[in-house]
Amino acid sequence: MISSYIYSSKSEMSFDSKALHQLQALAQKENKKHNITGYLTYKNDHFIQYIEGPESAIEQLITNLKKDNRHQIVKSYALPIKGNRVFKSWNMRYIEYNDLVEIGFHELLETVFFTVNNKLFSDEEISNKIERMLNKISISLDNIVN
Ligand SMILES: Cc1cc2nc3c(=O)[nH]c(=O)nc-3n(C[C@H](O)[C@H](O)[C@H](O)COP(=O)(O)O)c2cc1C
Repeated sequence: MISSYIYSSKSEMSFDSKALHQLQALAQKENKKHNITGYLTYKNDHFIQYIEGPESAIEQLITNLKKDNRHQIVKSYALPIKGNRVFKSWNMRYIEYNDLVEIGFHELLETVFFTVNNKLFSDEEISNKIERMLNKISISLDNIVN
């Protein structure tokens, strides 16, 4: 079974493209060891990252991410346990924000993620919306050559 987690964070240092590339390379290498997949994007000093994998590996990574003083987690959701991964072959894909804008779904994801009112939607409805958009992002991105 697959645990998954999505969060936004504010960076506490500036990440230029070299720093982002290094972060992705390290994440990819570590995630491969721990059977974690997902994606990361960055815009205006904010990250959004989605990670999925075995429960203990995800818990450990969340602990590491919370301790990492290069950023501060702003908002997060642990999604319900599921049977299949969304981002099957990407140990950590860095997605250029502009690619996501072109696809359009990320803006929807951001809207749900940042502005959704927990009083209007149940946790289940929120996680269903997030899952649907992650699936759309994943399918659309398979058509973008990296
Ligand atoms: C935005 C962001 C995303 C990160 N993503 C990952 C990741 O996907 N996988 C990973 O192993 N480390 C990732 N890291 C690094 C971890 O926060 C942490 O440095 C790493 O797991 C090593 O932790 P440790 O030094 O406490 O053992 C990320 C860091 C930042 C700032």
